Amino acid sequence: MQGSRALAALLGAPALLAVALLLCGLGRPPPSLQRELEQRRRDLRLLSARARAPPARGLGCAAVRGATGVGWVGSGITKLVLGALLPPPSGQRVALKSVHGAGRDVSRCVRRHGHPDGCRRLATYKLLKELVLLRSLRHPGVVKLHGQCYNRSLDPEMKVTTILELGTPLEMIQLLQTPWEERFKICLDLIQLLHYLAHSPLGSIALLDFQPRQFVLVDGVLKVTDLDDASIEELPCQVDDDCKLEFPTKSFSLKCTAYGKCEGINEKMNLFNAYRYFFTYLLPHTAPLALQPFLKDILNATGELRYGVNETLKAFQKVLHLYKSGLYLQKKPSHLKEYVALNVFHMDSEDYKCWLSYSNLGCMLSVHNAEEAAAICNSHPHCQRFIVTPKKTWTGRPLALFQSNLTDLILGGNMVAYVKGSAAQRESL
Ligand SMILES: Nc1ncnc2c1ncn2[C@@H]1O[C@H](COP(=O)(O)OP(=O)(O)O)[C@@H](O)[C@H]1O
Ligand SMILES: [Mg+2]
Repeated sequence: MQGSRALAALLGAPALLAVALLLCGLGRPPPSLQRELEQRRRDLRLLSARARAPPARGLGCAAVRGATGVGWVGSGITKLVLGALLPPPSGQRVALKSVHGAGRDVSRCVRRHGHPDGCRRLATYKLLKELVLLRSLRHPGVVKLHGQCYNRSLDPEMKVTTILELGTPLEMIQLLQTPWEERFKICLDLIQLLHYLAHSPLGSIALLDFQPRQFVLVDGVLKVTDLDDASIEELPCQVDDDCKLEFPTKSFSLKCTAYGKCEGINEKMNLFNAYRYFFTYLLPHTAPLALQPFLKDILNATGELRYGVNETLKAFQKVLHLYKSGLYLQKKPSHLKEYVALNVFHMDSEDYKCWLSYSNLGCMLSVHNAEEAAAICNSHPHCQRFIVTPKKTWTGRPLALFQSNLTDLILGGNMVAYVKGSAAQRESL
């Protein structure tokens, strides 16, 4: 009991005292489960001492109680996540995370130990660990914590709820059907996060359960949401042989440093996982031709762990620069002079579709300028005209709409349509 008071003090939140007392005081779990509970409590205490997380702030139980429109948005083996609308004044949609009583973690524990309360407590430690990490880590790639609610009453459910910004779970199949620029952004967001985790205030952090489902997208930004399996410890060692980094398809031998830790193991583990779950699927296909050697280099270097996160981030930034500045465009004879520029009113009429289009109505692609759009239009058999719209992608590139239909052009607006010279003549435009 004394341990839990110390823990609550370390966690820096008086409200946590009730939870900590509850977690280690109620009922009598069997000794095997008791040992696991004590181990988790010790780990949480150590983490809290190292994290020196700022005290609990932000929204609390009143926000959770007043939430409406509550509905399931996701669940994993330990936690259940509900989407909800907070009461005024905030009125925002948030994610509420709590222990998943029917999840695999708790169910497996109950089968093993036959003590539902104790098993829920065990899982609650994971949520508390995640909470400590969320409070200590600040980065656009870490889901934002809006607040927390500790149920102070001696409720056998021992409810802890975290209030987070709401995202949408990552759908890899869907991502594979989005334009390359959007997939590149996900990978860039990820490497920026891994760079932060490698140099975080808590030391180098490894995401032990690194899978796409531990991430969500919030306004198009990739964020990690599941931190209960994060480790801030680097593997201890005595000799190099202790430092094997094993994956199903590959293993790496790392060095044991003079201070008895496997050198950079957390950073390398994250990087190889980023390579195998994200980069290999999202980076290469349909990338601009001239960028492909640079992307191949990133894939090879991360797949062999030749690069660390610093070098990988630099390589990504170089690709971004080449892309944004149009330097990747190969010098080719101009196609634009084959087009007639006409001032038109913009019409969002349905037209031919193309692969990886930004619009469901027709063929809309990101371009560097009208010259690149002309080259694209020439490569599409149906294309007769294009408009460079004022809509921009995240890199600031304009979206161009490619169309085949010339009959609906209304002359005189303030948009510029580029019409193939031959077609313009035919239609007497
Ligand atoms: N902030 C969030 N917004 C939307 N969905 C989320 C959010 N956080 C988590 N989820 C969804 O809930 C699932 C379970 O959350 P997670 O923290 O991964 O729990 P577990 O530890 O059980 O795996 C995730 O896989 C994700 O799909
Ligand atoms: Mg998860």
